[in-house]
Amino acid sequence: MVVSLLACVVHLVLVRMSDAVDLGKGERAGLRRRLNDGDGSKKGQSEAAMGSGRMFDAVAPRYDFVNRVMSMGMDRAWRRRLVQTLQLEPSDRVLDVATGTADVAILVGQQMKSRENDTKRDGPCVIGVDPSANMLAVGRDKVSRAFLNDTVSLELGDALALQYEDSSFDKISISFGIRNVPAASRITALEEFHRVIKKEQGKRLAILEISEPAGTGLLARLARWFIRLNALVGAWLSGRRREYRHLLDSIQAFPKQDDFCYMIDKAGFTVLGVETMGFGTVKIFVAEPKATR
Ligand SMILES: C[S@@+](CC[C@H](N)C(=O)[O-])C[C@H]1O[C@@H](n2cnc3c(N)ncnc32)[C@H](O)[C@@H]1O
Repeated sequence: MVVSLLACVVHLVLVRMSDAVDLGKGERAGLRRRLNDGDGSKKGQSEAAMGSGRMFDAVAPRYDFVNRVMSMGMDRAWRRRLVQTLQLEPSDRVLDVATGTADVAILVGQQMKSRENDTKRDGPCVIGVDPSANMLAVGRDKVSRAFLNDTVSLELGDALALQYEDSSFDKISISFGIRNVPAASRITALEEFHRVIKKEQGKRLAILEISEPAGTGLLARLARWFIRLNALVGAWLSGRRREYRHLLDSIQAFPKQDDFCYMIDKAGFTVLGVETMGFGTVKIFVAEPKATR
């Protein structure tokens, strides 16, 4: 539980680091405009700005460091478990959405490389996509240092309008990313995942996310209390009430497990299972595509 709560503080610290962002022009402008449009409401716009690629551009240089320190390295174990749930095959083509600094893409890439054997490929079999050029720049350095340039490609893009062909991936992952997609657009992102994944048995979508645990049991109540406490600590650390409020709101507003499973189903997937870690604060949703939506 402590680890999960520390992860929340990580996000608060990142929110502080996100202040005074100023991006250049170019291709990211279009992505940003779409993200900032959100659901069109003022709240939607603020959600998009707070969780958007623009925000993560500002935090990129210290993102990994803060993540590691504040989660005491447990974020790695959660991502490793996420990758296990993909049940990778040597011939798979994998998309990691909201890849950020590419931790999941690298884990997948390492597994794919070790299983390559005689598999012939035209290019990288792992694609990481994210609207933050700065997060991707950090990720590219890590990919190079891991000697995975031939296996992992990091590309600028938006979960809401993926630039890939229909049915072009075997597995799709997204870690701590879906909550950053504005609530009103989340179903669009899930539908995009359905569009680009192959509609065959054995294909997988795996989503790792933090949310407030439901339930009236003691553990659930303690977990919720600790999330609030840590959010307060984060607000104190960051000195930014507005951002702290946003973070707390976004954790609280993230759909309950059943509702999120319903959304995944509505987007065209069958939910195979949900794994809970960190006393209900961290979940992995595993799903496979239906033939049609
Ligand atoms: C908390 S980070 C997670 C990064 C990485 N997956 C990890 O596990 O560390 C959230 C990421 O979501 C990205 N993001 C925000 N809006 C997005 C969108 N509409 N489509 C794809 N990625 C998005 C951000 O740029 C950021 O890199």
